[in-house]
Amino acid sequence: MADRYLSLSATAPGRFLTRRLGLPQPAALRRWSAEHPSLDGGLLHLTAGTSALDLPPVLARTGLTPASSPPSPSSLAAVVLDATGVRDVDTLAEVHAALHPVVRSVAASGRIVLLGAPLDPEDHHRAAVQQALEGFTRSLGKEIGRGGTVNLVRLTDAAAAESTLRFLLSPKSAYVSGQVIGVGTGAITGPDDWSRPLAGRTALVTGAARGIGAAVAETLARDGARVVVLDVPAAERDARDLAARLGGGATALPLDITAADAGERIAAEVPDGLDALIHNAGVTRDRRLVNMPAERWSSVLDVNLASVLRTTDALLAKGALRPGGRIVATASIAGLAGNAGQTNYGASKAGVAGLVRALAPRALAEHGVTVNAVAPGFIETKMTAAVPLLIREAGRRMNSLAQGGLPVDVAETTAWLAHPASGAVNGQVVRVCGQSLLGA
Ligand code: NAI
Repeated sequence: MADRYLSLSATAPGRFLTRRLGLPQPAALRRWSAEHPSLDGGLLHLTAGTSALDLPPVLARTGLTPASSPPSPSSLAAVVLDATGVRDVDTLAEVHAALHPVVRSVAASGRIVLLGAPLDPEDHHRAAVQQALEGFTRSLGKEIGRGGTVNLVRLTDAAAAESTLRFLLSPKSAYVSGQVIGVGTGAITGPDDWSRPLAGRTALVTGAARGIGAAVAETLARDGARVVVLDVPAAERDARDLAARLGGGATALPLDITAADAGERIAAEVPDGLDALIHNAGVTRDRRLVNMPAERWSSVLDVNLASVLRTTDALLAKGALRPGGRIVATASIAGLAGNAGQTNYGASKAGVAGLVRALAPRALAEHGVTVNAVAPGFIETKMTAAVPLLIREAGRRMNSLAQGGLPVDVAETTAWLAHPASGAVNGQVVRVCGQSLLGA
């Protein structure tokens, strides 16, 4: 179901009309393409407080050229503000002083990335102003407009955050805004070829015959992975067609992920092991709790949560995920904010976030595997095309970018989390929601 309002407001009369009526002004988002892989414009590196990060070598590898100073209007593709040295209210003022003069120079679909320090419970002054960066980031995300995004990365080691910075400073993160992403430490080895980081790796995507899962499969294949396209037997034909289109040795695995032996069946399909396990399959069976029969509850919980727990446990226990492996599960903003008619779905998706946070440290320590989640907002798929018109329109507009995301937006976020250089990103739940007004 095409977003007609988005197309209308992209025309000159549509822009005039929507502005006069005070309606949302969605901008055409700049997404990644092989022809235009980078944002247009310069990169401005600013600092607030005294920083210990060695950022310049990492920023030099993003493909963006340093901006001239002072920047001319709309000339900046991105601004990176290193605020890790903000320790008190006085140095917090340097955040304002640094960004106030340059916000106007950020181009359409530009990026502002703040870098913060991990919150230190031993130093409540520093923790206060570091937490203040979150409110700042989310507020600026709501102001920036013209398809721009604002995110905050908490880190102590710039090199460990290279894949994250490359992602946030690229068109691949078009629908990720208002996020706070924690990056840990540890030796990170970048791939030989950053344009095919998953070359030689195998990824399995559940629910991949259509929608977001198909986009994830396509994006991981673009990045060089051999992809196993898993979906229910009824979708076998679509799964096989997709595998044939992907090439690179992609195969289809017709399997209901709720089968008790799904983990064993997957392990048998990939005898050499998996490098990425993407839990994407999901269903909705909406009813208000008062009208919800037990079957609607259990079918949603079984697909969206129990099967994720079962297959994850089985594959980790069998050692089927190779060291350096990645698990990416699919949560939802409905699991963070709640949604009327979705007690079953909201519970299942909050459960996914709980699984990710609890398992992540152990999976990394014991198996060398990271565990993260994407939490999509309103994404244009068959699932959301079935939503009643008014609710669909509200879902599209109620975010800072005033439009729905595309499956590829979730796919690019998944590919960043599945990246071999993303080993210091663990236990994160990253929303792909255009900074939805729903949820924190
Ligand atoms: P979709 O309904 O278009 O595709 C889901 C796929 O999962 C289908 O191909 C389906 O056959 C497969 N599937 C369902 N049950 C399965 C099972 N038992 N075993 C194997 N495969 C199974 O859904 P969409 O929109 O692509 O969503 C993908 C994921 O993203 C889901 O987990 C969904 O909950 C989540 N999500 C989607 C949002 C959206 O706006 N579309 C928002 C938030 C989360």
